Amino acid sequence: MHADRDKGAGTGGGAAGSTLLSQASEDAVAPYTEGDPILQVRGLAKHYPLTQGILFKRQIGAVRAVDGVDFDLYAGETLGIVGESGCGKSTVAKMLVHLERPTAGAIRYKGEDISKLSGRALKAVRRNIQMVFQDPYTSLNPRMTVGDIIGEPYEIHPEVAPKGSRRQKVQDLLDVVGLNPEYINRYPHQFSGGQRQRIGIARGLALNPEIIVADEPVSALDVSVQAQVVNLLDRLQAEFNLSFVFIAHDLSIVRHISDRVGVMYLGRIVEIGSDAEIYDHPTHPYTQALLSAVPVPDPTAREHRERIILHGDVPSPANIPSGCRFRTRCWKAQERCELEVPLLAVPAEFRHVDTPARHDSACHFAEEKRVVPPEGELEIPGPAEAPGDGETSEAEGDERS
Ligand SMILES: Nc1ncnc2c1ncn2[C@@H]1O[C@H](COP(=O)(O)OP(=O)(O)OP(=O)(O)O)[C@@H](O)[C@H]1O
Ligand code: SF4
Ligand SMILES: [Mg+2]
Repeated sequence: MHADRDKGAGTGGGAAGSTLLSQASEDAVAPYTEGDPILQVRGLAKHYPLTQGILFKRQIGAVRAVDGVDFDLYAGETLGIVGESGCGKSTVAKMLVHLERPTAGAIRYKGEDISKLSGRALKAVRRNIQMVFQDPYTSLNPRMTVGDIIGEPYEIHPEVAPKGSRRQKVQDLLDVVGLNPEYINRYPHQFSGGQRQRIGIARGLALNPEIIVADEPVSALDVSVQAQVVNLLDRLQAEFNLSFVFIAHDLSIVRHISDRVGVMYLGRIVEIGSDAEIYDHPTHPYTQALLSAVPVPDPTAREHRERIILHGDVPSPANIPSGCRFRTRCWKAQERCELEVPLLAVPAEFRHVDTPARHDSACHFAEEKRVVPPEGELEIPGPAEAPGDGETSEAEGDERS
């Protein structure tokens, strides 16, 4: 799954970390050439207004669900996004696929800011960026057959599959995701959880997209099925040269599938880099705390590792702390942290040293701290431990991965 490319860290050396919201859409746009990021996200924000009053509503504040997110996504790579519940991951995902309109910022697809497109121009671009949802139980219409569900996008984009060819196309997609093409007339309730997620993935592939935004695609599934679906995504990425934004709160799964990882806290990415940089050389205290809670199977390693317990609750996105937004829970916080917002950039102490700690981290006092054993020792359920869906169903499938 790892794209063979010198991807640099984060958004490209950290310059984008300092992007101001107001400047984001004014940046000069260079023409897209191969090797450039397929997606560039700059200063992305979504603020939901908080209102008071029944007849005359007036705004008294805002929920800053996403509050200035920057990242790049390259063709054929997987960017994992992790963070605690409520940090804004799904809101980012929804903005990428135009289910939500950003309050500020830019989403550049092949160099063009698509965040403000509408009408035909938007329709043409939307085709290329598709979403796979978290919950295969609720995201599929129970009254539609699998064939209608997977083929529904062709109603909006008939140019991809003219009417006469649709049935065959849907059956090909069922085959691609490891389901029996003969199940085309069955209904979602006849499938197990893992199989339903395969149907969701087939639907996501229907329009031949270049980018798939997968929002917690395996977290609603039984652990034994998760590895199968992750392996399927892995295979599809290689087969169709897809780029993935893979959102999850399970750090082990994210490492398994990602080339790079961005860690979100309270509406912002606080650290971003290659999977080895983030997992083996984290420099942001929040990343270190998250990693210190990742399960470790080896009892000796488990005994000797330091567990970092974060105190206090995550602040409300309607009332974000001044300076560093993590300061109310950070054991290293000092006066500067209250006064000055740390930018997402390579910290000064690592800027001129050749070390994996040289990646973007939004901390005034960033320092390297290894908290997990090397890759391979993390608890990742492999295919060998996942013999089947583990769920009884009339329609068994999953025969391809
Ligand atoms: N329509 C909305 N109106 C007001 N606030 C919202 C709305 N949608 C989301 N929020 C708030 O924005 C914040 C981010 O929500 P979001 O769903 O993006 O988080 P998340 O990281 O995906 O969480 P989870 O891991 O639980 O899925 C949360 O505090 C949420 O309550
Ligand atoms: S800037 Fe300060 S409060 Fe924020 S993570 Fe770094 S040390 Fe902690
Ligand atoms: Mg979510």
